[in-house]
Amino acid sequence: MSDPFPIAVLISGSGTNLQALIDSSDRGELGCDIVVVIADRPGAGGLDRARRAGIATEVVGWDDHTDRASFSCAIADTIERHGARGVVLAGFMRILAPDAVHRFPNAIINVHPALLPAFPGADAVPSALSYGVTVSGVTVHFVDDMVDHGPIIAQEAVRVFPHDDEEALHRRIQAVEHRLLPEVVAAFGRGDLAVDGRHVVWTTSADVSR
Ligand code: GAR
Repeated sequence: MSDPFPIAVLISGSGTNLQALIDSSDRGELGCDIVVVIADRPGAGGLDRARRAGIATEVVGWDDHTDRASFSCAIADTIERHGARGVVLAGFMRILAPDAVHRFPNAIINVHPALLPAFPGADAVPSALSYGVTVSGVTVHFVDDMVDHGPIIAQEAVRVFPHDDEEALHRRIQAVEHRLLPEVVAAFGRGDLAVDGRHVVWTTSADVSR
């Protein structure tokens, strides 16, 4: 058996997606070793989840840096210092500068709570609701230089019901995220994802993208 692929998980919030990755790892399904969890602020609730799981934690404070470039460089340095070769943005609400993204080519995965290219950005769930769509969903994609734009690895639709509020819709979206993200990260760790331009080819039968 080959060694598990070392990944860093970046968070800003409560870290339920991080927890899904930890749970998958505990079940022996992730095939990746979460070597560090990095938050952009000390109060991120997901840091406690990481500590409880015995995972190293780091805070690279957005407020401690003068601009996006220096913040992103500090994040990339921290990832490399812990030996991670892949990165998962699990509710990480900052945009990494291109120089940092280029240090991990086709190796940064983001989970987004909408069907991209619809509703990119930080307010995807309320934006989908106020637009009046009847279907939204989850996108897991590789990160490139543009916001919520890189090659799509997997998507899954979630129905929007007439009386949904943001909390109800986001709860159903997150239930999908918690299943889809670990499946994608496991495939990535096995080396099963090949990027061809905007397309991601699943090289095994584990394809959850369709
Ligand atoms: C998740 O729903 C994720 O899709 C979203 O933040 C939430 C974090 O929840 N990310 C974005 O909106 C990124 N644009 P969590 O901290 O409980 O995993």
